[in-house]
Amino acid sequence: MRVARPHVYVALPLPDQSIERVLAACEVTRYDRRGQPSRQELIDAIAAADGLLGSAMLPVDADVLASASRLRVVSNFGVGFDGVDVAAATRLGILVCNTPGVLSDAVADLTMGLIVALARRLPEAERFVREGRWLPGQGVRLGSDLRGNGLGVVGLGRIGREVAQRARSFGMHVCFYDVLRHDEELAFCTYQDLDDLLRESDFVSLHVNLTEKTRHLISTRELSLMKPSAYLINTARGQIVDQPALVDALREERIAGAALDVLEQEPPAPDEPLLQLENVIVLPHVGSATVETRRAMLELAIDNLLAALRGETPQCVVNPEALAARRDAS
Ligand code: DGY
Repeated sequence: MRVARPHVYVALPLPDQSIERVLAACEVTRYDRRGQPSRQELIDAIAAADGLLGSAMLPVDADVLASASRLRVVSNFGVGFDGVDVAAATRLGILVCNTPGVLSDAVADLTMGLIVALARRLPEAERFVREGRWLPGQGVRLGSDLRGNGLGVVGLGRIGREVAQRARSFGMHVCFYDVLRHDEELAFCTYQDLDDLLRESDFVSLHVNLTEKTRHLISTRELSLMKPSAYLINTARGQIVDQPALVDALREERIAGAALDVLEQEPPAPDEPLLQLENVIVLPHVGSATVETRRAMLELAIDNLLAALRGETPQCVVNPEALAARRDAS
């Protein structure tokens, strides 16, 4: 008897050689344009799908999930799973998987790069050269050393720890705030509550997941606690920072600057006020964007997808309770 192959929708424009293992085991339909499918395209494409492989930035809400009666797994190509309604997926017995760990180095490297870029005024210096300036006296402002400066890491998960360790090797004093770890002293950093961390740090770097608790964790009050000489770095999720409040703080120079790899709205509107400011570096969400890391993320996302479709528990599943919901329903 011929066993029906599971049907998978790949919501990413990936070439055949990148998804060979999926093509070998499944019937595949694929999104093949730039970017990602619209909500309606996604609903239509997963109506008969058993599995979905999509970017961590693909919104998969409760109604989208409910419209896919056969769906068993949403395999996220990314660590963040805030785009998926995990509670709805769990109720429907749909596993949600992600790719933690394999991108921590890449994101931590980028975060340190942004800290260095802010401290040494790299974008400003680069603009000077392109404007034909070079010589002393032509206006390049001095930066500051990192050694001896304080870094506050908000969220000491896998990525936060990598950032903390890197910052220590730059000679920075590192403290952290984390909702899960209180008053813990680690070899390389000490716990502080969030307000103290904001008051005392020269650089504040955000590494929490986006949840209802962390949405706008940094808003007007929190920004007002920071030193006027301090910098904010966000390589986590845009919605953790109240962006209009940050624009005000930057415009009024209540903090010295910010470096953002993520924004509340991605891509930003052309008239986004942040893009008019000199004291902010904005990147297009490239924390994990290295060849090696993206390859490792994709392999892990495919492992997760195929394991779930075989009826096994995937290596990285954020809602294992969904398995029980599925068993109860069958
Ligand atoms: C992640 O992995 O969550 C990234 O932010 C998306 O590329």
